[in-house]
Amino acid sequence: MAKDWMIYGANGYTGKLVAKHAKARGHNPVIAGRNQKKIEKLALELQLDYMVFDLDDVNIVAEAIADMSLVYLAAGPFLHTSETVIKACLATNTHYLDITGEIDVFEKAFTYDEVARKNGIALIPGVGFDVVPTDCLAKHVADKLPSATHLEIGIASLTRASAGTAKTAVEWAGVGGKIRRDGILQPHPIGFDTKELRFMHGYEETMAIPWGDLATAYRTTGIPNITTYMAVPKAAITMAGMGSGIGQTLLSNGVVKSVVKQLIGAVVKGPNETHRKTSRSYLYAKVTDDQKHMAEAWLDTLEAYQFTVEASVLAVEQTLERQLAGALSPALAFGKDFVLDIGGTRRLDALDVGEWESRIGTV
Ligand SMILES: NC(=O)c1ccc[n+]([C@@H]2O[C@H](COP(=O)([O-])OP(=O)(O)OC[C@H]3O[C@@H](n4cnc5c(N)ncnc54)[C@H](OP(=O)(O)O)[C@@H]3O)[C@@H](O)[C@H]2O)c1
Repeated sequence: MAKDWMIYGANGYTGKLVAKHAKARGHNPVIAGRNQKKIEKLALELQLDYMVFDLDDVNIVAEAIADMSLVYLAAGPFLHTSETVIKACLATNTHYLDITGEIDVFEKAFTYDEVARKNGIALIPGVGFDVVPTDCLAKHVADKLPSATHLEIGIASLTRASAGTAKTAVEWAGVGGKIRRDGILQPHPIGFDTKELRFMHGYEETMAIPWGDLATAYRTTGIPNITTYMAVPKAAITMAGMGSGIGQTLLSNGVVKSVVKQLIGAVVKGPNETHRKTSRSYLYAKVTDDQKHMAEAWLDTLEAYQFTVEASVLAVEQTLERQLAGALSPALAFGKDFVLDIGGTRRLDALDVGEWESRIGTV
């Protein structure tokens, strides 16, 4: 298989898993990062070529990736990494994929659509759990109701965060919540907009959170009103409601943010292999229109990091095989059924009440 693609941030929790999975599928990506020792060690372990460079200067990145046909970026928070790599990819006609879930990073990437089309390369941010399953599900329900004006997405992911995910959450915590109304991203306080949603494994208390789909589902479906909900324990909803103002103020302070991120780096390790292989994720999407028509669908899929690893390598393969160009969401790039190719994912358009009720109380 082709060797000329790169995983940057390969020594991170997710990057390492993706590198191992890619190798197991017969790829030989070049692995890269900014830490010589860590990258060298991983390259030796996986018997892969490696490069070491940081992401401060577009020209240096462009020189490093000049021979690559694709860069897969696993180094986040992407607020600090994505745009430099995108610019280098545009300068060298290199496809760009990443696993961001950051709304502003998606929005920024989409501004490069025209130049990416002109250069014949694809920019596809969000090829992980955030946002492949929800993006594909959003497209699926939107196609069932072309008159849809409102989209609601629910996520119940029974996993633990990795250090990078926790640091990324801290990076954006000072900004507060968001929703999309009339096509515009608007502030929306965290902890107040709550509802019970029905997933494939049962009912969950959820609260509105600023998930990446506020950017991507809008690009994929054009539906102007979007809210994304995450299943969280009731106590967390109460605490979010009471503390969101305080937490937001504290985490908008650069010094506090940096200390919290250092602590996270030392303490948070991410889910272990058993957890990744046994835990599940459940997604829900509903569209409605002005005439009270409605369409909904559900997904049952892999644990979030396991999903990210498998989706990422599949996305790389499809990008290298197809003639994709422009700044695309995953569903626009690979189609709404892409999610069904990932690890036995199941999609339902209606819940089988008999089957579902028999599972209540067992999960
Ligand atoms: N879309 C999804 O579903 C999904 C899934 C998993 C992860 N993620 C996101 O992916 C990112 C990585 O997560 P993780 O758990 O793998 O994190 P991690 O274990 O902390 O690894 C982060 C990696 O990024 C590198 N890095 C960070 N900032 C950098 C910068 N400014 N310049 C160059 N390299 C930089 C780190 O390099 P050093 O080791 O040198 O610091 C490390 O290799 C996070 O933003 C996370 O939210 C998204």
